[in-house]
Amino acid sequence: MRTRIAVLVSGGGTNLQALIDAAGRGELPHGELALVVSNNESAYALERARSAGIPAAVCLREKGESRADFEAKLAAILEENGIQMLILAGFMAILSADFVKRFPDRIINVHPSLIPSFCGEGFYGLRVHRAALDYGVKVTGATVHYVNEIPDGGRIIAQKAVDILPGDTPETLQRRVMEQAEWILLPRAAEEVAKAIQS
Ligand code: GAR
Repeated sequence: MRTRIAVLVSGGGTNLQALIDAAGRGELPHGELALVVSNNESAYALERARSAGIPAAVCLREKGESRADFEAKLAAILEENGIQMLILAGFMAILSADFVKRFPDRIINVHPSLIPSFCGEGFYGLRVHRAALDYGVKVTGATVHYVNEIPDGGRIIAQKAVDILPGDTPETLQRRVMEQAEWILLPRAAEEVAKAIQS
């Protein structure tokens, strides 16, 4: 039996696509992309899941709803689907310590910088790349790490550096970091963790 994985998304889902493509090439032999969950009903990632034939669910945090209530709904969806491992792939919500404790060493996240630079609360998506450009660093990259109770604070699994080039904008830099780092690291780390869960 392969490790049943849920991929949590909020937006475009290019990292989800990298996982789908890797699985299609036979590069995720110990994992099964069993479910995609989005906290945004208009996320393009949901289309990607449908095209790949992966069951998809929307789990919204309604206005005024507590994080605990949102996480209870999310946990129920995961349980119904027999999920053993979570991949946060552009999931723009921070999970509580109580939630994370349910999946020790079984949640991984991809972050678009070399942690511990440009990470933690408030650093997500293009904001991360804007911060790197504003600071003037010449090298950035991506990190895949375990998720614990500290935002972007869990043990690092893999990192890859990416050069910043003259004239980069947050958008051009985001694309290069995805192509050269995120889409490569995330499927490899997913396989490593899915395999570890089985041993
Ligand atoms: C990716 O760059 C991912 O690393 C980042 O959001 C983007 C999502 O793109 N995640 C974070 O910033 C989390 N802190 P995608 O939806 O196309 O995969």
